[in-house]
Amino acid sequence: MKVSVLGATGAMGGLVIKSALQEGGISVANKISSSDDVCNLFVDTDVIVDFSCPFATESMLRYASSNGTQIPLVIGTTGLSKIHKDLMEKCSQTVPVFHSPNMSFLVAIMNSVLYMLGKLLDEDFDVEVLESHHRLKKDAPSGTAIMFGHTVAGARNRNLDDVANFIRYGIIEQRKRGEIGFAVQRCGSVVGTHEVSFVGSCENIKVKHEASSKEIFARGAIQVAKWIINQCNGLYSMNDFTKDVTIPVLNALSREFFEKQ
Ligand SMILES: NC(=O)c1ccc[n+]([C@@H]2O[C@H](COP(=O)([O-])OP(=O)(O)OC[C@H]3O[C@@H](n4cnc5c(N)ncnc54)[C@H](OP(=O)(O)O)[C@@H]3O)[C@@H](O)[C@H]2O)c1
Repeated sequence: MKVSVLGATGAMGGLVIKSALQEGGISVANKISSSDDVCNLFVDTDVIVDFSCPFATESMLRYASSNGTQIPLVIGTTGLSKIHKDLMEKCSQTVPVFHSPNMSFLVAIMNSVLYMLGKLLDEDFDVEVLESHHRLKKDAPSGTAIMFGHTVAGARNRNLDDVANFIRYGIIEQRKRGEIGFAVQRCGSVVGTHEVSFVGSCENIKVKHEASSKEIFARGAIQVAKWIINQCNGLYSMNDFTKDVTIPVLNALSREFFEKQ
């Protein structure tokens, strides 16, 4: 498999190239950064992996949609807007497009656990999302934190836009029932920590993921790249990638747990 990397000179791009070469059977076709023309990404390659910035991702998507390219896209860039989402939708009509703000398999597992907790625990449980990242991160809250918010809101049949609280400063109103609060830390070289709390009057439960190396995201992106080249046209998320593995495993484990009690 030949992979092209957008954002090749960046922290993530470098790790994607390293992971691709370590994986075996994968070569790096094109390494593209801000000094290159985005059209070179599409030359003689099987798949594109993008960890760059929203501007570069938009250029890639515009080029793909206006030229009808047939190369699957794996997009890890965060801070994307509705313009990007619409462009991804458009491209996905002719090519498989994968987007996830977090390529870690464990984060995907955490996301499914949060869905179950969102279903199990009603709005008597206040949900708070806390995330920490390194001082260089440019978007906030992280795409992963927002993804978790969407998951819990969706499990409660709510729209995140209606229940999210991203800003608390000064005199604030009382917490609204069903609100999902977000808090952000930017400091040092923290790779990425996400903690979601369900806090009731007498008990609470917290689910936390800590990344200690960005390599997990690069390795995840390469696994997704191997998978996406065999998928039909469409827009895919980490849930699509993990569901074949996660659902049977979780079903079997929960059955085993309850049967053994
Ligand atoms: N999905 C995930 O699992 C995951 C995990 C970690 C990070 N991320 C996200 O991945 C992205 C990259 O993170 P990073 O830490 O690698 O950032 P980084 O070190 O700042 O690298 C950014 C890369 O984008 C390139 N770039 C910037 N502007 C460009 C343009 N106009 N055209 C083409 N390339 C351009 C840069 O090229 P130059 O060197 O030429 O400027 C560089 O190669 C961020 O959005 C981050 O939040 C996602």
